[in-house]
Amino acid sequence: MALPNGITSTEELLDAQAHIWSHVFSFINSMSLKCVVQLGIPDVIHRHGKPMKLPELADALSIDRAKTPCLERLMRLMIHSKFFVGTKISEDSDQDGYWLTPSSRLLLRDEPASSLASFVLYRVDPNIMDPCHSMSKWFRTDHGTPFFTTYGMEIWEYAGKDARFNMLFNEAMASDARLVSGILIRDCRHIFEELRSIVDVGGGVGVVSKAIVDAFPGLKCTVVDLPHVVAGLESTKDLIYLEGDMFEFIPSADAVFMKWILHDWPDDKCVKILKNCKAAIPSKEKGGKVMIVDMVLGEESLETQLLFDMQMMICLSGKERTEKQWADLFTAAGFSSYKITNIFGLRHLIEVFY
Ligand SMILES: C[S@@+](CC[C@H](N)C(=O)[O-])C[C@H]1O[C@@H](n2cnc3c(N)ncnc32)[C@H](O)[C@@H]1O
Repeated sequence: MALPNGITSTEELLDAQAHIWSHVFSFINSMSLKCVVQLGIPDVIHRHGKPMKLPELADALSIDRAKTPCLERLMRLMIHSKFFVGTKISEDSDQDGYWLTPSSRLLLRDEPASSLASFVLYRVDPNIMDPCHSMSKWFRTDHGTPFFTTYGMEIWEYAGKDARFNMLFNEAMASDARLVSGILIRDCRHIFEELRSIVDVGGGVGVVSKAIVDAFPGLKCTVVDLPHVVAGLESTKDLIYLEGDMFEFIPSADAVFMKWILHDWPDDKCVKILKNCKAAIPSKEKGGKVMIVDMVLGEESLETQLLFDMQMMICLSGKERTEKQWADLFTAAGFSSYKITNIFGLRHLIEVFY
């Protein structure tokens, strides 16, 4: 029998089939990770204090006993994905147990200061996954996002109306903000030196700002975010929560901080936000700057960066940008220089001046 059109060998045929399988099934990686977080497997192994045998893990999780072999299969995939390792339970035993890797340590709910568990649960929540099913439909509409095609409103309005989603979203952002704050305070203290005030635009529940005011006594931070995000959060002498719209007004400060804001928006909206930032800060000679934490795509982006870019398209009408695209935004908003520092792995710190 002839090979399918354009395929030159059986090897090529089977490689193409395997490629399709790999893509089609890769969502099971995300869903298995969700299951691991929901069952609390990292915490159970961590509390055990040493590598944990399968029956011990099954007992501690209180799962249906008949599903122990299924748990073994789930753990086999997660070991393959480097979320756990299989290792000897002790020096003098030849029995294997499950133990943590750096990635599963970041999913410990028992250690909220460093846990990304809520980020996982948000990213694979049905409210975020459902719009993925509407992508092709969205391409043939004039809707801003597949999120709109699915829910008839954009994500910020949805978050304002659905308390569960609002909480999930804010906690996911806060979990990432805790990780980033730690790096900022440990490794980037110099960027805050000589600043007396910062406005954290779209600062969510204020995790980064709180870490900054705690680390730099005397520095004042104002968190500006939408009413459903900051309502009920108590201001202090140095940390002010302000309900506001960054497209309307950004209060004055020595510097503006924006983490994961501009990638949420299309270019024209970013220019508007950046112009408001410029109006809020002094010039470079007087110590003014905008500090942005976002990705800068390289010549060859990593797959995770491209996936993030798709996520911005599906849920937010934003995008991840190359250095040239960032530079164009800064020029259009009236800024004269910028400095990119690669300190956050897949993301960057961009300082912008005029
Ligand atoms: C992706 S989240 C980032 C939150 C926080 N900066 C962080 O990284 O943890 C974007 C934030 O922008 C806020 N936001 C959206 N539209 C806004 C607007 N018009 N004015 C002020 N904040 C807004 C959202 O409520 C949300 O908290």
